[in-house]
Amino acid sequence: MNIIEVENYEELSIVGAEIISGRVKSQPHLTMGFATGGTPVGTYRELISDHSTKKTSYKNVTAFNLDEYLGLSGDHPNSYCHFMKEHLFQHIDIHSTSTFIPNGLAENPLEECRRYEELIEEKGGIDLQLLGIGFNGHIGFNEPYTSFSSRTHIVDLALSTRKANARYFNSIDDVPSQAVTMGIGTIMESREILLLISGAGKQAALSRLLDGDVNEEFPASALLSHSAVTIVADAAALGTR
Ligand code: GLP
Repeated sequence: MNIIEVENYEELSIVGAEIISGRVKSQPHLTMGFATGGTPVGTYRELISDHSTKKTSYKNVTAFNLDEYLGLSGDHPNSYCHFMKEHLFQHIDIHSTSTFIPNGLAENPLEECRRYEELIEEKGGIDLQLLGIGFNGHIGFNEPYTSFSSRTHIVDLALSTRKANARYFNSIDDVPSQAVTMGIGTIMESREILLLISGAGKQAALSRLLDGDVNEEFPASALLSHSAVTIVADAAALGTR
């Protein structure tokens, strides 16, 4: 595990974006796994700026997102589909037909999970997966005790996760109670993983990860068994400030 320590969120966003745009430049047909949440927003802002100044092109990039709330349409302002358009996709030259996010309104959610897995496989798997981490160590929406061999599946969101994400909704009652997420097994098949961790609130999760105990009780610990993980963490998350 390669750990890059940065001063603050600004620097984390710059370094995160440099890693991603560097991969896109060296491998224009990259299949990229994107994440949502507050953490990657600065990285996406930097990618947009790099796209407009340095002309990094995404026209041959394929994008898969980690997860989506069940019950929200792609147009819903709180859907992750909407989030990705607003924070990244509509500002770069990626083709809308090359961006994939689970359909939160699928008539048959189990079938949607299977379809999503097949699509990832069909496109040759994910080259670089961007991740954030939840306070309880969740990655994607894989809550504690999710099997490390899980594939794309439906999850019941932990109350703590719904509370953490309630800041984007009018009230916690509006936060969906279920989501579709890539499984931990799916994530682990990515050829490379970039995990961004920022802020004092994530200090406990990062320190537990660095403890090195691989345990399904703490989903992010699966990453300890992956051969190509880079963590970019700021001083607040590392507890060095
Ligand atoms: C959500 C997302 C995760 C994300 C997590 C942390 O639950 N499904 O992919 O990593 O939130 O978000 P934040 O970066 O806002 O702390």
